Amino acid sequence: MRPCGPSPWPNLGSRLAEAIPRRNEDTMSFPSDRPSTWFVTGTSRGLGLELVTQLLRRGDNVAATTRSTDRLLAALGDRVDTSRLLPLPLDLADDAAVAQAVAHTVERFGGLDVVVNNAGYGYLAAVEETSPAEVRDMLDVQVVGVWNVLRATVPVLREQKSGHIVNVSSVLGLVSLPGWALYCAGKFALEGISEALAGEVADFGVKVTIVEPGYFRTDFLTRDSLALPAETTDAYPGIREMTENHLNLQGSQLGDPVKGAAAIIERVVSDAEAPLRQVLGSDSHAYASAKIDALRANLDATAQTAPATDHPAA
Ligand SMILES: NC(=O)c1ccc[n+]([C@@H]2O[C@H](COP(=O)([O-])OP(=O)(O)OC[C@H]3O[C@@H](n4cnc5c(N)ncnc54)[C@H](OP(=O)(O)O)[C@@H]3O)[C@@H](O)[C@H]2O)c1
Repeated sequence: MRPCGPSPWPNLGSRLAEAIPRRNEDTMSFPSDRPSTWFVTGTSRGLGLELVTQLLRRGDNVAATTRSTDRLLAALGDRVDTSRLLPLPLDLADDAAVAQAVAHTVERFGGLDVVVNNAGYGYLAAVEETSPAEVRDMLDVQVVGVWNVLRATVPVLREQKSGHIVNVSSVLGLVSLPGWALYCAGKFALEGISEALAGEVADFGVKVTIVEPGYFRTDFLTRDSLALPAETTDAYPGIREMTENHLNLQGSQLGDPVKGAAAIIERVVSDAEAPLRQVLGSDSHAYASAKIDALRANLDATAQTAPATDHPAA
């Protein structure tokens, strides 16, 4: 099969395999001669809190955004020296406030090296039970909020020709399941944004990593974090049962957030060539592998029929 005319996506194959973005050898993506500065979102609990804790212990500078600096500071307690911490109360959906928070970070620490888009929450409901407000709230955090952070931080990293952007997705950024539609809509969007971004910024010496955790023992499955629909129907007993099962899973998830945060930091700090996606957890790896197998089978099954809609070759 020959394509008609030039491809609108030059080097699409290599960009998708971009699994390892190209690097400009003259640039340094992560500083080794001074404390680095990290901007982390969603930090008063879970993985974000663990990241902040470990980064401060390393002696790095951390700008930590949260909806509650009181909760963040109480959670950190006196476990760690907070002199290099900039706690930032922030509504991620407010683009002007996000830009101000990033400017404040650069001013306070004299630069920016790593951005971690970590804030997120789960939501379990059938598609038809999901209200417009619930859709907007989720996408405000996982898409609009991330985009606001990227719009404010990418120019800083691009101009200094170094830096690393870590977008915390999920294995549910690759696989979707009944009841998880809205959460997956946010995470699938984040994956799409991240793949495009990786290709856009590689030539500026800026790296992108998409983190795909499986179930981690954070607050994610507590009633404080997991959102549920305002209204349900009786039509989905399976989703109600699945919701209960997930709430009961709290405390026995496979993933250890201490190891998860350490793995994310190690990936950034090692500065080694690494794939675009960082899969965390054997459960995540198994689900993602099953998705690839199913996608392969789907492509094979449509290999003969797909070309039928092409214009005839000239
Ligand atoms: N734990 C898992 O099983 C799992 C699996 C796959 C992916 N993930 C992803 O990992 C990331 C961290 O989650 P976690 O496991 O650490 O869960 P968590 O313990 O519930 O912490 C979530 C963090 O996200 C922020 N957040 C939650 N809802 C928010 C909202 N409406 N607006 C702004 N920020 C909000 C919170 O920040 P503040 O309260 O400080 O504002 C909180 O610190 C999320 O993106 C999540 O989707 C988690």
